Amino acid sequence: MKKISNYQVTINYETEIIEIDDLNFFVDMISLRSKKTICIIDRNLSVLYPVTSKKVHVLEVESGESIKTMESVRPLIQSFLDHQIDRSSTMIVIGGGALTDAIGFIASIYLRGIRMIVVPSTLLSMVDAAIGGKNGLNFAQAKNQLGTIYQPETIAIFPKFLETLPEVEWTSGFAEIIKYGLIADSDLCLELLDFDLAKIQNDPTKMMTWMTKCIQIKSRIVQQDPTDKALRKTLNFGHTIGHVLESSYNIPHGHAVGLGMIVAGYISEREFQIDNTIVPLMIRLLNQFQIPTQIDWNYAAIANGIRKDKKRANEIIDFVLLNKIGEAVIKQLTLTQIEEYLHIAKTEQWIS
Ligand SMILES: NC(=O)c1ccc[n+]([C@@H]2O[C@H](COP(=O)([O-])OP(=O)(O)OC[C@H]3O[C@@H](n4cnc5c(N)ncnc54)[C@H](O)[C@@H]3O)[C@@H](O)[C@H]2O)c1
Repeated sequence: MKKISNYQVTINYETEIIEIDDLNFFVDMISLRSKKTICIIDRNLSVLYPVTSKKVHVLEVESGESIKTMESVRPLIQSFLDHQIDRSSTMIVIGGGALTDAIGFIASIYLRGIRMIVVPSTLLSMVDAAIGGKNGLNFAQAKNQLGTIYQPETIAIFPKFLETLPEVEWTSGFAEIIKYGLIADSDLCLELLDFDLAKIQNDPTKMMTWMTKCIQIKSRIVQQDPTDKALRKTLNFGHTIGHVLESSYNIPHGHAVGLGMIVAGYISEREFQIDNTIVPLMIRLLNQFQIPTQIDWNYAAIANGIRKDKKRANEIIDFVLLNKIGEAVIKQLTLTQIEEYLHIAKTEQWIS
């Protein structure tokens, strides 16, 4: 077990992020700490990485975006009651961002919050979704409309999970890694330029270095702004348009964010006159990691989706733009301005 990072959102509560090399040993160790431990694991993962601990009650669940609804989590809450999970119990969740979002939400409201340990299983959840305590359920066809910010006690990264990760999930995760480079670490962007997907898949040491970098960037940002007042919003680069594309076209989160970053890049050119080599560099990086840079999209659907954005305050959205590579800024744009940009995006074929 090796420490990767940590962050502290209140004086007496710290979240530790560690690397583990034996999943069952880790689960056993956690189970020794409390009277009762329940482990919720993605059914697909359970086949590949069975949890064998005798001291833990294992609950296998279907995962993917469909778990993030009120209807899907209701039977899970019922089974916590059935298994007499109480405030002295520990909940371990093993899965991708969809499952950690859904279980994080339940852990925060069940008995007003019980101890939670997260073991993210996709690249995207290792570098992003599992870190920082945000959780969420989708509602009324809009992403993450219900949710809380609830910090896990421990986040355990088990890099072996990457060995079975489908190609599409690798590419989805890389969109978030590219995002970290663009908003916070220009050196990371330079390093990424020297690689492509096949090359990094054969270099686990480098991969772990990059994951550590991203996890540390996010930990630092979350510690400085745990409740999303200012700095943490920069992590939403690409997400305003991305979330709408994700729910309208049912595409992986990272792919939607990649497309959203291109749009935000072009808007940055117009709002801040950033160097016109930045968007081509972004597109090159996305291409190198096989993240789509084009989609057949419908103006009305996206404009309508933006109006449902939960981060909208009246007619204004805090839109994350780039000032330069490695530096993000928040610019308040009105819905009308965003719609005008969407028109330009359609006419000038930014992403289609
Ligand atoms: N809370 C946050 O801060 C935050 C940040 C980013 C994204 N998210 C959310 O994360 C979700 C996307 O999560 P995701 O990209 O991890 O996908 P996912 O959780 O939907 O998982 C994708 C698929 O990969 C499979 N899988 C997972 N790990 C595997 C492994 N090791 N080997 C083989 N198959 C595996 C799963 O069974 C699933 O079918 C979205 O709902 C998004 O909104 C949340």
